[in-house]
Amino acid sequence: MANLVIDNVIKRYGQTEVLKGINIAIEAGEFLILVGPSGCGKSTLMNSIAGLEEVTEGRILIDDKDVTYANPKDRDIAMVFQSYALYPNMTVEQNISFGLEMRKVPKEDRDIEVKRVAEMLQITHLLHRKPAQLSGGQRQRVAMGRALARRPQLYLFDEPLSNLDAKLRVEMRTEIKKLHQKLGTTIVYVTHDQIEAMTLADRIAVMKDGEVQQLGTPQEIYDNPANLFVAGFMGSPAMNFIPTKVVATDTGPMLELDAVQKTLLPFPNKACLESYVGKTIMLGLRPEMITEPQAHKDGQPFVITTEINVEVTEPMGADTMILTRVKENEINCRSHPAYPAKPGDNIKMMFDTSKAVAFDQETGVRLDV
Ligand SMILES: Nc1ncnc2c1ncn2[C@@H]1O[C@H](COP(=O)(O)OP(=O)(O)O)[C@@H](O)[C@H]1O
Ligand SMILES: [Mg+2]
Repeated sequence: MANLVIDNVIKRYGQTEVLKGINIAIEAGEFLILVGPSGCGKSTLMNSIAGLEEVTEGRILIDDKDVTYANPKDRDIAMVFQSYALYPNMTVEQNISFGLEMRKVPKEDRDIEVKRVAEMLQITHLLHRKPAQLSGGQRQRVAMGRALARRPQLYLFDEPLSNLDAKLRVEMRTEIKKLHQKLGTTIVYVTHDQIEAMTLADRIAVMKDGEVQQLGTPQEIYDNPANLFVAGFMGSPAMNFIPTKVVATDTGPMLELDAVQKTLLPFPNKACLESYVGKTIMLGLRPEMITEPQAHKDGQPFVITTEINVEVTEPMGADTMILTRVKENEINCRSHPAYPAKPGDNIKMMFDTSKAVAFDQETGVRLDV
């Protein structure tokens, strides 16, 4: 297990800057996830760590050693890609042991290693099959087995689950998490799926346009997104963004919610609103912050009950999503399935702004930090 330092890494293809100065320090044993929309530079960064791409500027250190210009094979890394191209003419066993054979590991030791990995991934019964005789999930395990047989200092996974169907993806996600808990090896894992990022990571680096927007634990990023982009990208259903006018009151600035009736919402960090009085800011409220009224929350300082107009309801079993609209903005609320709401109804909903966040509408910068 090794630590990994990505020190001000810049990558250009001609004039195009694809990585714009990435700084991430990953601790030994950490599970770090790079998440961001397609094209933001995740694979470029992974390939740079692996040594498959040369960086234009900056340094990469593995286990405190500068490997910026080291050959991929000297970096002691194993990589699993989205397309896990297994050798079609080899059996599962041969696929797993091939890398070891290339590195002249004796047959006896290879056999022990294949057995160990196969047991861990529960593919012992498949060892004599060819890839064509396996399901997608089984092939994925073999690809992982091939990487695990190596016992490297660092694993790189680049969207390893994106070719699998939804159910299998969730199962494999759990398997990967268990594997990390068991092996404790450092992992850098790329995904564009924010749920995968939230569920797997020790820490998440949210990327956009070749830059890290925020680096933090899943909970930090969920509760305290650094800007409008991170707030909108992380969380499902997404955070609601409501353009809200800041008005002066006797008790300081409040937020005027232009719903069925004009409701004044309190906001925890009043000071950050002072310079926005008379202007409009972007209020961020997660769906679970707008729920059916709950008696035990009555009278709490940041809880306001008001009426909304129901546009659509979406029962999800454990709870029901209620969609309403504030001007042109669709708002997702999360209520108990027993709470009566029909399209067209005006119903009472409780806004809890104790964990609400606010952004500058133009720049997307978080105000209440
Ligand atoms: N060899 C290349 N030449 C020029 N541009 C490239 C090359 N490889 C990748 N890019 C560009 O770099 C950006 C980041 O790509 P990539 O790292 O693959 O994104 P991601 O993995 O986040 O989807 C994209 O805009 C892509 O078009
Ligand atoms: Mg990619």
